[in-house]
Amino acid sequence: MDVRDAPDVLSVVQTAVTRHGTSREALIPILSEVNQALGYLPTAALTEIHRLLKVPGSQIFSVASFYRMLSTKPRGEHVIQFCESAPCHVVGGREVWQALQDALHLNPGETSADGKWTLLTTSCLGICGVGPVVVIDNDVYGNVEPEQIPEILARYA
Ligand code: FES
Repeated sequence: MDVRDAPDVLSVVQTAVTRHGTSREALIPILSEVNQALGYLPTAALTEIHRLLKVPGSQIFSVASFYRMLSTKPRGEHVIQFCESAPCHVVGGREVWQALQDALHLNPGETSADGKWTLLTTSCLGICGVGPVVVIDNDVYGNVEPEQIPEILARYA
């Protein structure tokens, strides 16, 4: 995204705070909304949330770091989540993971140099019946075979 097109961080935070309020219970919904709008949680956003909610910065940062759906670092244009829990693992997840690694050359948590992909692992997504499971952005792929990985990734080219 061109910097000139980037949403204004402070106005994104203000919109989320207006929607959810300034109680401590609002912290996660606010972080989630800001993360979705900006793609991650820049320091300026965390500082503004700290100022408006009067929640300690350390608490905000620990919440932002704890939840996988949140990120304090910029993520790629497309975020891949690979289920690494046992039920997916035993039905071929290991081979699918290898295929992802071969295609992307990324370790878990890394973003490609061109900013296109972020590769994350996740625990069970609750759809073990269709494992192995790969989620790209909001698209869920079940019963994934390793041979399908190049074709699936090509859909996001
Ligand atoms: S173990 Fe992968 S979805 Fe449950």
